[in-house]
Amino acid sequence: MAATVYLAEAPSNIAFLKYWGKADAAAQWPANDSLSMTLRNARTETSVQRSAQSEFYFNGHKLSSQDPFAQKAMRHLAFLFDMLEETPIHLRIETKNTFPDSCGIASSASGMAALTLATVACLLEAPSWDSLTEQGISRAQLASWARKGSGSACRSFWGGFVAWEAAAGPASQRAYPLFPAEHWRLCDILLLISIAPKIISSSQGHLTAWDSPLFLPRLSGLPTRKRAMLEALATQDLSQLGPLLEQEALEMHSIMLSVEPPICYLTADTSAWIVQVRRWRQEEGLEVYFTIDAGPNLHLICEPAAKPALLSRLAQANAQWLEDEVGTGPTLCTRR
Ligand code: PMV
Repeated sequence: MAATVYLAEAPSNIAFLKYWGKADAAAQWPANDSLSMTLRNARTETSVQRSAQSEFYFNGHKLSSQDPFAQKAMRHLAFLFDMLEETPIHLRIETKNTFPDSCGIASSASGMAALTLATVACLLEAPSWDSLTEQGISRAQLASWARKGSGSACRSFWGGFVAWEAAAGPASQRAYPLFPAEHWRLCDILLLISIAPKIISSSQGHLTAWDSPLFLPRLSGLPTRKRAMLEALATQDLSQLGPLLEQEALEMHSIMLSVEPPICYLTADTSAWIVQVRRWRQEEGLEVYFTIDAGPNLHLICEPAAKPALLSRLAQANAQWLEDEVGTGPTLCTRR
């Protein structure tokens, strides 16, 4: 009889308050709290089934066991076997992104969330969320395990707007939902400025944060920014949230740029687009703000009413973009 295939689909998320820097790298404990919006269209689909040999497919291509991506996944599987006190077995894993790969979108959040959910479901033979719950596996537990593979993955376990609290230590850190997607239908238009591969991975980048003379001042200012962001999210106030998004993104990139050697994800085109977005806002009243991940591309955040005007300006400028918006959490099902 063919093995049951466990299928998980998990969303990516864009951080509003950024996770950059770890208080304890081995425990994957972040130096600060972060806040994010779950995305609707940027998702990873991962299927896991028991198999006679270990196989890993990414976007339809079989990866060699030496491939860094396969190795990262294998390390995470070993961790999950350990957590579930299961004897390691061979698994066939197929994963694909619903968004174009190598376009500089952080896929590690959706990738690690989907891999964690599908693998745990397969090992426990749990065909649904209800079955996982019955076996004592909560969403928060899965989020905590996923974060060991990629910190930001823990925020991909809920839809809408999500917080990841560093708390007093690795044992008490936790991710949890703040508001569901229906609370505020924000759009995220990902302006594709460069699709070149990252110069340095975020895992390596995080480790340099403490070297920046700006990092401690950042940490001391973050609680105030977080409170203001939470208030803006609660009251759906984009004119309050927007400037905070921009300050936060630029501050994270200042930390990256002020280490030796500097980590420079931004390009001259990123700067030109930042100026353009601000000009549209200030001179033409287009209520759009940017945030930036560990890459050169701008996430343009706006309400649905501003989207047509934004897209027509982007089209006039011959820009390339991907349309996204606030979305729902991961799904789980099975196939024979
Ligand atoms: O989860 P990681 O290790 O890929 O780090 C993510 C870091 C940022 O995307 C830059 C910020 C964030 O909070 O998602």
